[in-house]
Amino acid sequence: MSVIVISGGRRLEGCVHVQGSKNSVLPILAASLLSGCVSVIHNCPDLSDVAASVAILEHLGCRVVREGDTITVDSSTLDRCDIPEHLMREMRSSVIFLGAVLARTGEARLSMPGGCELGPRPIDLHLWALRRLGAEIAEQGGNLRCSARGLRGCDISLTIPSVGATENAMLAACAAKGRTAIYNAAREPEIVDLQDFLCTCGASVQGAGSSVVVVDGGVPLHTAEHRVISDRICAATWLAAGAAAGGAIEVEGVPREQLLPVTDLLAQAGCGIREEAQRVTLTGDGRLRAVPPVRTAPYPGFPTDAQPPVMAAMTKGTGTTVFVETMFENRYRHTQELARMGADIRVEGRVAVVCGVPALQGARLEAADLRGGAALVVAALAAEGESQIGGLHHLDRGYERLTETLRSLGADIVRV
Ligand code: UD1
Repeated sequence: MSVIVISGGRRLEGCVHVQGSKNSVLPILAASLLSGCVSVIHNCPDLSDVAASVAILEHLGCRVVREGDTITVDSSTLDRCDIPEHLMREMRSSVIFLGAVLARTGEARLSMPGGCELGPRPIDLHLWALRRLGAEIAEQGGNLRCSARGLRGCDISLTIPSVGATENAMLAACAAKGRTAIYNAAREPEIVDLQDFLCTCGASVQGAGSSVVVVDGGVPLHTAEHRVISDRICAATWLAAGAAAGGAIEVEGVPREQLLPVTDLLAQAGCGIREEAQRVTLTGDGRLRAVPPVRTAPYPGFPTDAQPPVMAAMTKGTGTTVFVETMFENRYRHTQELARMGADIRVEGRVAVVCGVPALQGARLEAADLRGGAALVVAALAAEGESQIGGLHHLDRGYERLTETLRSLGADIVRV
């Protein structure tokens, strides 16, 4: 089994061109089913979650070709509407195929996406939105059988601005007759990217980025070419790494406003931050000072996905910082591993209290989830001595060429 070995304490210096966004490319690959034509999707990161989506598309009968970072999906050959359990299990976000398959075929059969490492992640809002649009959904023994003879546009008001439920509702609404308005929609940049892709296919979707998304459905779709946006969570991870290890790093390709919650926090913690439209430069000495409480929240609040790597950076420094994780129950599993490196973190329910320590020590560590794994990498880069990090399949879900990227910044990191 491979591990990452990091000798910490090296300054990081250089520029990272940020990879394509995982959370954008997954729904866009699912959306490529809708047109029944060819979709050419550029800037697709090379990740196991992307491979899992491609496997689902191929199982459904699509022809998929990957050349470099471009994935071409021909969904004209789609010939089935079921997704077997082993493909659903690969990745929780495969639930996004529900709305897409239903929109394309009027039927979908798939197993419930399994529980996940962040705690229970219900799909009640996804199912509720699809039922509002006229889908009949039977849940039996972990399986979902959905049919929709004629979806109809309607008003959908989400009780939580769920990213996945907003995306599923948008996809299904493209096939519904008439207008659908999704209220309290998620406002994440990835929702805007999905809207942009759907519009390029010829769909009529507006409002993404605000809390009301309006879809005029039933419009025939066509061939499309689209470039996926850059990954703001990867950018946040590289900034956290620079803040923790010290140095001067630039992240390029993500609009500065998408990073504001993270750059504002790191600036308050004592880092130098310079921003241009699509580039953020961070300078720091690797010792951060405490900041006011950090509460994760839906966009444009502080992203839950950036909480673990930013917390890792805050462990080395002075003062006490409180984190409140409002999105997912079980998102502090990295804290036990950070404690093994000498971090002082107390967790009580959704609150973690981080007291800065003068130094972290390298240790043998195990990633328990994707962003928790990124937190361990950040801490190991800042620690004295050597760390070994296992559980790399989690990191492979979301970070393309992680070791190469960090090595290009001067880190002493290898995968063995
Ligand atoms: C997406 C992201 C994930 C990110 C999360 C929050 C993808 C592939 N994943 O996940 O990286 O951490 O947004 O920014 O884009 N909820 C319900 N019922 C539902 C759906 C959600 O109660 O039917 C709750 C969840 O338990 C959670 C909250 O809503 O507490 C937000 O979850 P949601 O926005 O749906 O996250 P995902 O789409 O799963």
